[in-house]
Amino acid sequence: MADRKPVVISAEEMQRQKDICETIRGMENRPKTYHVVTFGCQMNAHDSEHIAGMLQDMGMTESVERDEADFVIFNTCCVRDNAERRALGNVSWLKTVRKRNPGLMIAVCGCMVQQPGMADKIMKQYRFIDLAFGTTNLYKLPELMLEAMNRKKTLIDIDDRDTVPEDMPVQRLRHDAAYITIMYGCNNFCSYCIVPYVRGRERSREMSAIIDEAIRLKNDGVKEIMLLGQNVNSYGKGLEGDVSFAKLLKALDEVGIPRIRFMTSHPKDLSDELIEVMANAKHVLPQFHLPVQHGNDEILQKMNRHYNREQYMNRVAALRKAVPGISLTTDLIVGFPGETEEQFLDTLSIVEEVGYDSAFTFIYSPREGTAAAHMDNQVPADVSSERIGRLIKLQEECQHKTMQRFIGKEANVLVEGISKRSADMVSGKSEHGLSVAFAGTEQDVGEIIRVKITEIRSNTLIGERV
Ligand code: SAH
Ligand code: SF4
Ligand code: F3S
Repeated sequence: MADRKPVVISAEEMQRQKDICETIRGMENRPKTYHVVTFGCQMNAHDSEHIAGMLQDMGMTESVERDEADFVIFNTCCVRDNAERRALGNVSWLKTVRKRNPGLMIAVCGCMVQQPGMADKIMKQYRFIDLAFGTTNLYKLPELMLEAMNRKKTLIDIDDRDTVPEDMPVQRLRHDAAYITIMYGCNNFCSYCIVPYVRGRERSREMSAIIDEAIRLKNDGVKEIMLLGQNVNSYGKGLEGDVSFAKLLKALDEVGIPRIRFMTSHPKDLSDELIEVMANAKHVLPQFHLPVQHGNDEILQKMNRHYNREQYMNRVAALRKAVPGISLTTDLIVGFPGETEEQFLDTLSIVEEVGYDSAFTFIYSPREGTAAAHMDNQVPADVSSERIGRLIKLQEECQHKTMQRFIGKEANVLVEGISKRSADMVSGKSEHGLSVAFAGTEQDVGEIIRVKITEIRSNTLIGERV
């Protein structure tokens, strides 16, 4: 696998895809409206923005209701079994919609499709799908659309090259905040995780391309960028010159976009250089998503995480020293094969020790093709669900405690919309990534507003404008 080289898609090829969009736009029998259904993480959310961009270039407009669209596309996730089942359940439901609307075109793409053996499964069980493609050939959607429109059988196209596309069309969901992909794929092969198999080997975009994109976004008035990658800390490997995530972040800080965030970071690659850049940056937000996964060294080793508890706590201490008050968030897995009650207690104790501002908690889900799927002593479902219950309860208690540090302090809130609590309140995210609600109107949406925090209601900070 080591000799797999990233394939940068040429500008000519990208142009050819754009030309095909024009061809489709001029066709009589093309779908007129589309609806994208997205599952999974931010990578998929951003890929869906590219899908929407390409479909709009083909002349289609978005249909808010999925059963009224001429073209429905599911961008799928397979990180856990429930994600996969949800996607397939939704796709099957469309089969009945198609009976009403025989012209409906159905496509499936994303991580689930990229899994080994999926093409056969689609051919056998989901033959009513018109088009299926994976993650690394997303840029080819125009070409695939054209071909799928002109045939009766399912078109399946899966590419296992590690592609790097540039300048894909994009229709962003928000005007004030934007995703920027800085790297694709993952090389870590955590023993439970399917992502390296469905997103390919790690490869980075050129720094100049990323900075150009940031400058364009700044000129469009974007106030916040979120840098995306499965392991942003290892950005730059394989690129020419002296590049690292820390250097990229420093250069982006100088572009002058008010807020910069990133995810996800692997603890083993979190360098002192990066921590120093964060400490001195003007626009990098004081927040860090640092998935620990587990609190027990033996389990961490079986997970192939390449750090132990002590090393993780050392990174936490370094971050807190360099950026006082920094918000830490994490991902946790319970019920990894062989996890004993005692080992699980180590997860509870690390949650207490760190004091996360929020945590995503998951029950381990065996993924075919990963190392852990065949490990002995898979933990019974009832044991895992009892454990996750305890973990969630503890995290909520800890979160409530750590959130107290914001009371009486001021926060800068990027307003996302009218609050769900009340029509005369708005809500958004503070620089620490916490939800904040305060009195406001539609006019505040997309603005950064200074707010004094007065109280906490469940997981939201409540404040007043200063
Ligand atoms: N690259 C990121 C995120 C990967 S997927 C990272 O390394 O942190 C997001 C989260 O899903 C992971 O952090 C992990 O906690 C969880 N996850 C991945 N595979 C899983 C599995 N098989 N079962 C349960 N949770 C899983
Ligand atoms: Fe999966 Fe580990 Fe890669 Fe994250 S770092 S995507 S958990 S293999
Ligand atoms: Fe899911 Fe793929 Fe993201 S498997 S979590 S959508 S990288």
